[in-house]
This record gives sequence, C-alpha cells and structure tokens, in this order.
Amino acid sequence: MAAATAVDVYWRREDAQPPAGPALIVVIDVLRATSTITTALAAGAASVMAVDGPAEALLLRASDPARLLAGERAAHPLPGFDFGNSPAAMLTPAVSGRQVVLATTNGSRALAWAARQAEDVLALSLLNVSAVAAAVVAAAPEALYILCAGTEGRFSLDDAYVAGALLDALEAVGQAGTEWTDAARAALWTYRGAPERPFAALAATGPGRSLIGKGYRADVEFCAQRDAFAVVPRLRAGVLVAERPPG
Ligand code: MLT
Repeated sequence: MAAATAVDVYWRREDAQPPAGPALIVVIDVLRATSTITTALAAGAASVMAVDGPAEALLLRASDPARLLAGERAAHPLPGFDFGNSPAAMLTPAVSGRQVVLATTNGSRALAWAARQAEDVLALSLLNVSAVAAAVVAAAPEALYILCAGTEGRFSLDDAYVAGALLDALEAVGQAGTEWTDAARAALWTYRGAPERPFAALAATGPGRSLIGKGYRADVEFCAQRDAFAVVPRLRAGVLVAERPPG
C-alpha cells in the first residue's frame, strides 16, 4: 500500500460519505452477510449479487430462474428463497457455478451502496481476513474506506472487531498507511482487546447475542473461523466474484 494511504472506518452505512477520489471500499457484515458471501464463493458460486431487498431478489429470479436466492429478515429465511443467511448452508454443490442473489437487512444493502460509490469494492469477514489484507496491499489504494454495515442504523461491535482485524493484519506487514482517522484506531484497539478469542468476541456483541438467542449459535461459531477461506469477494460488473489472494 502506498505510504500516504488514508484509512477511515465508517461504523454504519448511514454515516458513509461517497469517497472524494479514487478509493477502495471494504465492506463488513461479519454476522452474517459477508461471511455468507465469502462461503458461497469458496463453495464455487459463480458470483453473488447483493441487493437492497427481497422484492428486487425475486424480480431478478423471475428474469433468470437459474439464480439462487439467499437472505433473511429478522435473521430468519425468507419465503420463496432457497437459503437463509447461514454461511455453512452455502457449502453445498447446489451453489456451484450459480449466481446467488443475497438480500439481507444490513450487509447486502451496504454492499449495494458501496457498489454505487467506488469501482473497487471487496467483502470482508473473519473467514477471509488474510486474503483480503493481501488484496488491499496489492491494490495499493490512495484511500481505504472500511464500511461496517451496522445493525439497522446502529453501531455494530462485531463489524468493528473485524475492521480492526484487517488493520492489524495490514500493520503486521507494515502496509497500514499513514493517515488514520480516530475511527480506524478505535477499530484496531477493539480487535486487540480479544484477538485470540474471535468466537467470544462475536458472541458478546449485540448481533451475536441476538443470533444465538434465535437459535443460530452454529452460525456465530462458523463466522468466527479466522482465515477459513483464501477467497476475496471483489465487485466486477455489479456482482461479487471470487479472487484468490495475490502470491
Ligand atoms: C444483515 O445483513 O443484516 C445480517 O447479515 C443479518 C443476519 O444475518 O441476520
């Protein structure tokens, strides 16, 4: 990454400003949208299209019945969809070679917003921190925007933790840029509070507690697996496709 790279973190999609110049946007919704995207692409999905809502997803399927639909409302699967938002459910040959259209409450909307703002957009979860860190270094952006999806307009500690994990990985290779906002520093300090205990960290957050309370503890455990997949979801022509990390 160029030495002068500016690094900022937005806690919520609602706070995010369109980049003033060329920028790389890294979007996080670790519980669970970006974990689901990473897993779908690792399982061989041709692409993932993140959309603003279920109605758009259903229209897309009507125009191409080969598309698979995934998503949630209030954490639960949507009627007429093939999958909910449980990442492990993507580990099936059924997704291989298919396009998955994802409609979730926060994460897919943050991605859809980012796709309208910048040419280069990546999706980050704990499952692919090292792969995304390598992709950020290779991209050498003038500005790095880390966009946390948040939870229905509120700050989400789980996403802040993963933003910090990325910054920690970039610092470890001396590639974290030089101009950090306080939000970037706060994310790093959040992560460094519990770097070795990702499940405990995620499970203690509001979204983590909510998912566990609704019966999705296994999903939180799955999402807490650091570097399970060497896959970088990168936006290309409006859809996220898998890239392998450089090197
Ligand atoms: C979202 O995008 O809002 C989340 O991924 C929510 C969830 O998984 O329940």
